[in-house]
Amino acid sequence: MRVLVLHGPNLNLLGTREPGVYGKTTLGAIDRMLGALARELEVTLEARQSNVEGELVTLVQQASGRVDGIVINPAAYTHTSVAIRDAIAAVGLPTVEVHLSNVHAREDFRQRSLTAGVCIGVVTGFGAESYALGLRALVAHLRGAVQKPAARAKPPASSRARRPRRPS
Ligand code: DQA
Repeated sequence: MRVLVLHGPNLNLLGTREPGVYGKTTLGAIDRMLGALARELEVTLEARQSNVEGELVTLVQQASGRVDGIVINPAAYTHTSVAIRDAIAAVGLPTVEVHLSNVHAREDFRQRSLTAGVCIGVVTGFGAESYALGLRALVAHLRGAVQKPAARAKPPASSRARRPRRPS
């Protein structure tokens, strides 16, 4: 089983970049930690980083037929890139989106992910551990060990808002 890990823009600066938000772990250390986890899980791992949106699109496209799944931190492109979303949808490879920070606890513009909707799941807010959790989740999914709930489960009747009656 082969997995591609993709790191988006500015993640090459991890270690010195806003350590209060992203921690002090460098990208090299994250990749080494993932390499060790991959050996434990008996998967082959390749990790790439790019600051360029089109390069990330090309890496996703080239993953088709070469790997079984992708772990991606699209970084700032999470919130802007229709192109990366479309590439993930186009290749159809199971993809897990990960973030070091909890994007939902941050600025409004980080609350929306354009890429999450074409991913099988998202891990956000656990620092470097988000990558490890994402890799474990992807491998479990690929091995058929994950039972997915329906994408849009109906809330229980008691919590459903009542529709106002139409005037007759
Ligand atoms: C990030 C969150 C993004 O909003 C931000 O632009 C990043 C990193 C994270 O891992 O927490 O560059 O993806």
